[in-house]
Amino acid sequence: MPFRKQEAHTFQGWEQVTELHERILELAVSRSFFFPANEPYGATGGFYDYGPVGVLIKRKIENLWRRKFIYEHGFHEMESAIVTPEQILIASGHVSSFADPVVDCKMCKARIRADTLVEKEVKGWKWDGKIESITLAIKEHEIKCPGCKVGGALSAAYMFNLMFKTAIGGDQSPAYFRPETAQGIFTAFPRIFRNHGAKLPLAVGQVGKSFRNEISPRKGLVRMREFTQMELEYFFNPGRQGIEEFNKVADRKLRMQVEAKTSEMSVRDISENKIAANEIMAYFLALEWDFYTACGVDQKRMYFRVLGKAEVPHYSKGNIDLEVETSYGIVETIGNAYRTDFDLSQHAKTSGQDLSVFVEEEKKKLVPHVFEASMGVDRMFFCILEHCFREKEASKSKTEDSKPETVKDWEWFDFPPAIAPYDVAVFPLMKKDGLAEKAEEITARLRSTLGVLYQESGSIGRRYARADEIGIPYAITIDYDTLKDETVTIRYRNDGGQERIKISELEVSIRKNIESGRVRLNEKS
Ligand code: GAP
Repeated sequence: MPFRKQEAHTFQGWEQVTELHERILELAVSRSFFFPANEPYGATGGFYDYGPVGVLIKRKIENLWRRKFIYEHGFHEMESAIVTPEQILIASGHVSSFADPVVDCKMCKARIRADTLVEKEVKGWKWDGKIESITLAIKEHEIKCPGCKVGGALSAAYMFNLMFKTAIGGDQSPAYFRPETAQGIFTAFPRIFRNHGAKLPLAVGQVGKSFRNEISPRKGLVRMREFTQMELEYFFNPGRQGIEEFNKVADRKLRMQVEAKTSEMSVRDISENKIAANEIMAYFLALEWDFYTACGVDQKRMYFRVLGKAEVPHYSKGNIDLEVETSYGIVETIGNAYRTDFDLSQHAKTSGQDLSVFVEEEKKKLVPHVFEASMGVDRMFFCILEHCFREKEASKSKTEDSKPETVKDWEWFDFPPAIAPYDVAVFPLMKKDGLAEKAEEITARLRSTLGVLYQESGSIGRRYARADEIGIPYAITIDYDTLKDETVTIRYRNDGGQERIKISELEVSIRKNIESGRVRLNEKS
């Protein structure tokens, strides 16, 4: 089935909700990371808004992706139209095959994802891809509706297309909200190729919204109906499966899972032993590993999984996913695929246009092959929140029955400075005696290059705690000494350590630390 892999392995449990997951959702809502969209109207499942804090982090993730995957390579970025005429998605196979199996409850009329329902009810059952197998299993094991109180009988299983349908213009010609950003890149390829050097390899990336009418969206950002993808399509001559930059990453070690066994492998071995489809794919795995690490995902809790033959779409010559361990189960956050010439050939056939290109070195025309690296921003954001969450238990004063009362009195996010919502928080110790004015002056100066949260109300301890809670790496305090000697106190989020620093050195020091990923200014990188 094109574009969708078996998701059985993706979620370890049926509606598994753990304490940590619940806590993260609570914090996300209360600290303005993200919250359900349209709350006053009851919040339809699968749609989330990013709040003022979350949107700053999300943009930083997207911009870091742009830097690592586009600008540093001289690749191109585009923004394609979201509403996609039906013909394009017929050509890509989405109209016929972008579907999940479902059953309807005859009593409560709920529509339920059928393969995962049977998997949950029948131990060891795995879907073979045939719709009849699901109907048979439901009958044999007398599976009833898990949602409705009376345990209603279920319909025969059928395929449910996951695209949101719409119609264009007065003649209402059929169209869909794009289910992936990739198709817009494929249809724009001929023009971008002509306009930008007419040479292979050529890579085009895009950050944008995709839409899937998921049957059972999950709580939080793991399975949404509207989500953001960062996709890169690398077009190359199929006769040249290497990439110039390969040696820069060849010795890097990555965690790879092949046939359920996980081990460390060098990028060179991944390529030479054909674990990845080619050198190009192996190269991008290294880039993704570094990108995830730079964003705060724990290396020990992620690995690349090489998809088995049965999971790889028919047109692909190999897929490797990045999977991340979370309290919610294993979450697939990146899909890498060697899509061959499938998409361009399909669009050539359906549109009647010649989408082949002339390759100077070989003096012939050919249809480029494509390697795709497709990432979801939202799933990544969720993994970062989980992996960067820290809490410290403290023994409070003794309670009446003299047992020490343990409370979690310090919770924070250990975001790498590069993706923290603000680079620094600025607090005047007091509002009076010219301290607020001095703090505002410093804030204005820093804001020309840094993201600054300025707050003057509340106790200084409370303001530090608030800054920690949203993961700001540094907080600076303007006190009476500042007025005398032009120095401020800088406080570090992760250990509460403090030191004095000259105002004139602040900006450069913080900027250097953001670049190097250090949390403490005088720390060795
Ligand atoms: N163009 C290929 C493609 O779209 P995919 O594996 O279906 O491949 C790529 O999706 C990534 O998009 C996933 O690894 C995931 O991070 C994200 N994604 C897919 N469906 C999602 C959903 N319903 N909610 C949130 N993120 C999703």
